[in-house]
Amino acid sequence: MSSEIFDKVRGILSVLQEQMIGDLKDLEAFRVQYLGSKNVIKTLFGEIKNIDNDRKKEFGQLLNEVKNAAEEKYTHWKEILEGDMIAESDADLDLSAPSVPLTTGSRHPVSIILNRIIHIFERIGFIVAEEREIEDDWHNFTAMNTPEDHPARDMQDTFYLKDSTTELLRTHTSSVQARIMMSQKPPIRIIAPGRVYRNETISSRSHCQFHQVEGLYIDKGVSFADMKQTLLYFAREMYGPNSEIRLRPSFFPFTEPSAEMDVYWGLNNEDDYRITKGTGWLEILGCGMVDPNVLKNCGIDPEVYTGFAFGMGIERQAMLQHKITDIRQLFQNDTRFLKQFSGVV
Ligand code: PHE
Repeated sequence: MSSEIFDKVRGILSVLQEQMIGDLKDLEAFRVQYLGSKNVIKTLFGEIKNIDNDRKKEFGQLLNEVKNAAEEKYTHWKEILEGDMIAESDADLDLSAPSVPLTTGSRHPVSIILNRIIHIFERIGFIVAEEREIEDDWHNFTAMNTPEDHPARDMQDTFYLKDSTTELLRTHTSSVQARIMMSQKPPIRIIAPGRVYRNETISSRSHCQFHQVEGLYIDKGVSFADMKQTLLYFAREMYGPNSEIRLRPSFFPFTEPSAEMDVYWGLNNEDDYRITKGTGWLEILGCGMVDPNVLKNCGIDPEVYTGFAFGMGIERQAMLQHKITDIRQLFQNDTRFLKQFSGVV
């Protein structure tokens, strides 16, 4: 009896060692047969009681050998077959296939125009100055020579902070002029891009928030001619090398004399008539020689220094450039609208 069962176990061991495992299904069958809860080795351990006492130990060792061989074989093939599975899924990968396109953002039309304007002035030595949007009335109005009773200060036109008569959302980037003059010594040559706010009824043509670029140049002997030439350079960089400009007398409390600058846009079609109100000229910016009172208010001696300043709106230029007819589209952040400007820098 004993030697018979010994032969049987040796038989199992050699079958187990020779048996091929082809795939994960075979491996699972192998696991159930040799390592599962009702595996053959377990049943054989139950036979120990029938073995002659002097061979019990030998039989136990043989069974342990079978058990270890089964475990080893199982882990060995498991590694190989699962590795194959990964390799197989790798084989399905075409590394040269084009990738799913990533949707990248696009620049906002206002940023596109702002950046162009900044680069044009940077090329002739203007430095970008950025300042706060929440201002006090001194920098926004008083320093800029705007009298206490000026209608622009009215609640109707200016957003004041809650319960405040002095803190407000800046109504123009000219407040940056005051901030810079108070903190820097001439020569000063800055442009200040940024957002401004006015209490306007929102329509297709006007909004309560928009962007401006302010320019300020102060030094000894700066003249109106310098301003004219700077602005002509700007117009030709922005609107083409043959652009013509004209300056019309105007009024701002902070410049004297003051002017508004137009660029010749042309009258080639119906749109041009509408956009330029039939004149062919397009109003682009306000400008002038910095009023001596402003220099004095900000601690600069008007007997020694002179300067010019200008301020222009961005939205209208962006709208002209991209044929946008409703200013509100620039603030809605509708990606279907914004996507149209992808690729424009
Ligand atoms: N601040 C003026 C405006 O908001 C523009 C301006 C700036 C005019 C500087 C003259 C000089 O309309």
